Amino acid sequence: MGRTVYVNGEFLDESEARISIFDRGFLFADGVYEVSSILRGGLVDNDAHLRRLGRSLRELSMPAPASAAEINAIQRELVSRNRVEEGALYLQVTRGAADREFSYPRDTKPSLVMFTQARSLVDSPAAAKGISVVTLPDIRWKRRDIKTIGLLPASMAKEAAMAQGADDAWMVEDDCISEGSSNNAYIVSPDGEILTRHLGSEILAGITRAAILRLSRETGIPVIERPFTVEEARHANEAFATSATTFVYPVVRIDGRSIGDGTPGPVTKRLRALYIEMALEQVGSAGSGSNP
Ligand code: PDD
Repeated sequence: MGRTVYVNGEFLDESEARISIFDRGFLFADGVYEVSSILRGGLVDNDAHLRRLGRSLRELSMPAPASAAEINAIQRELVSRNRVEEGALYLQVTRGAADREFSYPRDTKPSLVMFTQARSLVDSPAAAKGISVVTLPDIRWKRRDIKTIGLLPASMAKEAAMAQGADDAWMVEDDCISEGSSNNAYIVSPDGEILTRHLGSEILAGITRAAILRLSRETGIPVIERPFTVEEARHANEAFATSATTFVYPVVRIDGRSIGDGTPGPVTKRLRALYIEMALEQVGSAGSGSNP
């Protein structure tokens, strides 16, 4: 017996899960996804993830496979069945199976699959030490605000970064950093301001980003949402990246050059601590699979 996964109405052993070869996710990357973190058996900021899922679906005129409340109930059931205390829940909706045709098929039932991945999030060597990134041209499509499963450019970037001995890639367009391969990117300027690209079709509106910007402002750390250049990043006091599965990762090297003194900076460490505190408060200590 492996993990229990969810496929179109059924909870199954992962070895039993089946999706059609005609599924448009498989043929066209015609699908969207969400990754929510799990802490103490509860889902962090899941309502925001489901709102973003709804937006991604609407942007692609893809019917929702179920209501947000129904999806939330399935997610919680899956976390509970797998007894995941800490990790991530991956959820994917595709337009469903239809004979191969570029235009959207009519009356196709969307497909909904989910699985969990248990792993430690709070206790993280990468968070303690910081990560290194290299800058690479952003070759992704122009609707990065939609969280689609078309992730090959991101995968290629991560692979290229690792081949250069780095941990991740920061994507560059018009001399500015858009975001990381699977995270949002920030720097702390010499003036102590947090800079991160403003929302738009160039980046994903990260759920962790929204929380981090809120926490920064509440704490009195100034935030400026604008594009920042590679040059600005090289001379920043600190740099960091955020996502649901990494929370806040310090970025201590960019293109082989140390940022600040080459160790995680105080603003980054504070924001990671504040985020984890907020997330733990949100999930409470309600136990496996439940939210407050
Ligand atoms: N990635 N930007 C990109 C391109 C992403 O893929 C992600 C998340 C983010 C951060 O968004 P959020 O804070 O909502 O996780 C930004 C997820 C974790 C993934 O693909 O696994």
